[in-house]
Amino acid sequence: MGRKFFVGGNWKCNGTAEEVKKIVSMLNGGQVPSQDVVEVVVSPPFVFLPLVKAELRSDFHVAAQNCWVKKGGAYTGEISAEMLVNLDIPWVILGHSERRLILGESNEFVGDKVAYALAQGLKVIACVGETLEQREAGTTMEVVAAQTKAIADRVSDWSNVVIAYEPVWAIGTGKVATPAQAQEVHCELRKWLQANVSADVAATTRIIYGGSVNGGNCKELGGQPDVDGFLVGGASLKPEFIDIIKAAEVKKA
Ligand code: PGA
Repeated sequence: MGRKFFVGGNWKCNGTAEEVKKIVSMLNGGQVPSQDVVEVVVSPPFVFLPLVKAELRSDFHVAAQNCWVKKGGAYTGEISAEMLVNLDIPWVILGHSERRLILGESNEFVGDKVAYALAQGLKVIACVGETLEQREAGTTMEVVAAQTKAIADRVSDWSNVVIAYEPVWAIGTGKVATPAQAQEVHCELRKWLQANVSADVAATTRIIYGGSVNGGNCKELGGQPDVDGFLVGGASLKPEFIDIIKAAEVKKA
């Protein structure tokens, strides 16, 4: 079906220029499968994007962690999609739960951002995921479907979208979803795309898992049929990120 394994590193709000240089040189020295097997995208804070882009190996790419919902102008503190395009930043992460929950980004706002970023030519890692309360209430699929619907309502071409399923209770907690829990939601999400978008989009869109992925759990998670890669937070700042990239090889077996 040709869904190339995708590994994203979300550095969040971390690092000094010195630390960022060290992470980049660690990445540049890593032995990883070829670009035919895995797509690697790292996402430093905005201020380090030019530095990382300049120094990072050419087979890895960069993503911003957010961008503005419309054309730039009088929006103090925002970074527009056009600015990312101007600096040749190919990817952007949108709808991360840390923005949905802490900054109050609604499904509709995230959907608008995804549509705007795609229209400017960016590729988007669109994040969805339920809180612990929502999971315990049995509403996981409802929540994830509503988040995805707000995107589907505004987007017709899915070829530049990667969906990151990130259960909020698994992010930064060390409490990773079990491979079965991840597979279940990924499979349901793919069925949702099939029923509500198209069979082709369901078959070709990569759905990656995020939430406490590390060097120890990545192979089993990556071996699940509907898990097409990862969005990695904490472990993306460490040498084990290279092992997580190598987990792409499980798909060959
Ligand atoms: P984590 O973060 O790997 O540190 O849990 C994942 C994410 O928030 O993208």
